[in-house]
Amino acid sequence: MCGIVAYIGDGEVGSILFDTLKRLEYRGYDSAGVAIKSGDEIVVVKAAGKIGNLEKVYREMGSPGESMGIGHTRWATHGSPTDINAHPHISGEIAIVHNGIIENYLELRESLTEKGFEFQSETDSEVLAHLINYFYQGDLIMAVTRALDEVEGSYAIAVLAASSPYIICARKDSPLVIGLGKLANYLASDVPALLPYTRDIVRLKDGEIAKLSKETVEIKNRFGELHPADVERIDWNIDAAEKGGYSHFMLKEIHEQPRALRETMAGRISEFGGDVRLDLGIDDEEIRNLERVSIIACGTSYHAGLFAKYLLPIVSGLPVEVELASEFQHLQLRPRTLVVGITQSGETADTLLALKKAKMCNVRLLAITNVVGSTVTNLVDSTIFTRCGPEIGVAATKTFTSQLVTLILLAICLGRARGFLTPEQGRKILIELSRLPALVQKVLDRRDSIKEIAELYADSSCYFFIGREFLYPIALEGALKMKEIAYIHSEGYAGGELKHGPLALITDFTPVVAIATFGRKIQSNIKEVRARGAEVIALASENDADIDKIANVVIRLPDTRPELSAVLCTVVVQLFSYYVAHKLGQPIDKPRNLAKCVTVE
Ligand code: G6P
Repeated sequence: MCGIVAYIGDGEVGSILFDTLKRLEYRGYDSAGVAIKSGDEIVVVKAAGKIGNLEKVYREMGSPGESMGIGHTRWATHGSPTDINAHPHISGEIAIVHNGIIENYLELRESLTEKGFEFQSETDSEVLAHLINYFYQGDLIMAVTRALDEVEGSYAIAVLAASSPYIICARKDSPLVIGLGKLANYLASDVPALLPYTRDIVRLKDGEIAKLSKETVEIKNRFGELHPADVERIDWNIDAAEKGGYSHFMLKEIHEQPRALRETMAGRISEFGGDVRLDLGIDDEEIRNLERVSIIACGTSYHAGLFAKYLLPIVSGLPVEVELASEFQHLQLRPRTLVVGITQSGETADTLLALKKAKMCNVRLLAITNVVGSTVTNLVDSTIFTRCGPEIGVAATKTFTSQLVTLILLAICLGRARGFLTPEQGRKILIELSRLPALVQKVLDRRDSIKEIAELYADSSCYFFIGREFLYPIALEGALKMKEIAYIHSEGYAGGELKHGPLALITDFTPVVAIATFGRKIQSNIKEVRARGAEVIALASENDADIDKIANVVIRLPDTRPELSAVLCTVVVQLFSYYVAHKLGQPIDKPRNLAKCVTVE
């Protein structure tokens, strides 16, 4: 997730761009840059690192610039966080900043290279600068429109040309808002960046393109028709605005999951071939010769690993062992093992240490992480990025579901390369996987009833979460979330294990969250706990006709494949724990004694 900004007006362009960029830093940053009009030229300043450092360089240059400029804070998804990969990208007299993913950038890059354009960076965004330059003949809005016609993927862009008096911006599947000022107009990825300047904003819609001068804003829809701006008056404060109007980052991040999952999948799926494109850096022969997968992780990422333990054998034919990084014994590694380190931050000390031990065994190392340029990426042979944008709430939410989807992609990729999964079988999973973001949205749309149920049980002193197979790791994750943010003792159990001890703790009114979207055996477990007085809150599929007879409360979820219903159930347990914690008034984004990133062993 990156942030883009722009300004056109009589104010001090550089100061306004840097100020608005700093207000977007919560979207993550590893590099930043601005392009500012100065006479007939565009001055570009960009660098890896913090925005403050960049501003210093700009000031040392004498703060060149007048009338208009664009800016970007980058959180890398393609290409490492370096000066060259930082935005703006330049082609001739065109400068652009981009937030999103250009899925067909490799094809576009090839065809633009044939036309003589020279690429400086490893980013997907640079193709946009060259494409716009290619079409530019004095009418910037026309050139941007034609370039965007060629592009597949998501974008929010702002574009300058040295010879144009306007800033052009456009969006598709990436946020962009225009701020209306007095003889000045502004642009940003999100409202909070603009609040010190204006409270009148226009949220650009998908497919719209706008032309900004200091006096006017013209917006055209996807058919090229001009239409009046839909102006919204913002009355939130800056703190609420950063959270997009949500009361906590955790709740915002829970709601970002449909978009996060789309980004995780973007450009990686070939539904037609029933296959997945992941740059694993391993040739097919080595994949065919693999005998097992060994997963190393901590905390929530460990639960993603346990999910893979059920998934990979049936989709790729490879057995999986999962180890807590802090307990990892490298002597158990045998040749032909693919070691996968799962870590959203890429910095967890226990996971890094375990991977270093694994490296000594001469096995192939793969990381799944959310942070480009993190330490884990330098340690392993190859990395799959989950691409879900920075996560600020300490309790992992969108990074976990993106890990689950990444593991599904990995399983298909390995299964197809090993000839274990047929194209038809791959296609079936992928078709359903493409529906997943919309299904997650349906679950989010039921938040009010989940809130009501959570608040009903919020004064309980202990919770149980139970599940089987794919849903067992989700039971563990639900219990972990409840401990982390609500500070209530919770146990996550495999349904079949209840009778080996935990049943002794079930008494009248103990809430048991039964994750039961598939499988019959979990119904016996529900009956077992009900017989001992428990209150069962069941997560069940829409077409389960029996569940109402045995559970006290039922939360219905859209019907889908078992491995995908694990993702839907995750969203419910996240919301359930969130609303319990909220009712109890706990500091949800920063729970006591916990850290987002644990860099000590
Ligand atoms: C910390 C966080 C957890 C996270 C764990 C592993 O304990 O509070 O939310 O699951 O670290 O983090 P990683 O970045 O390696 O996934």
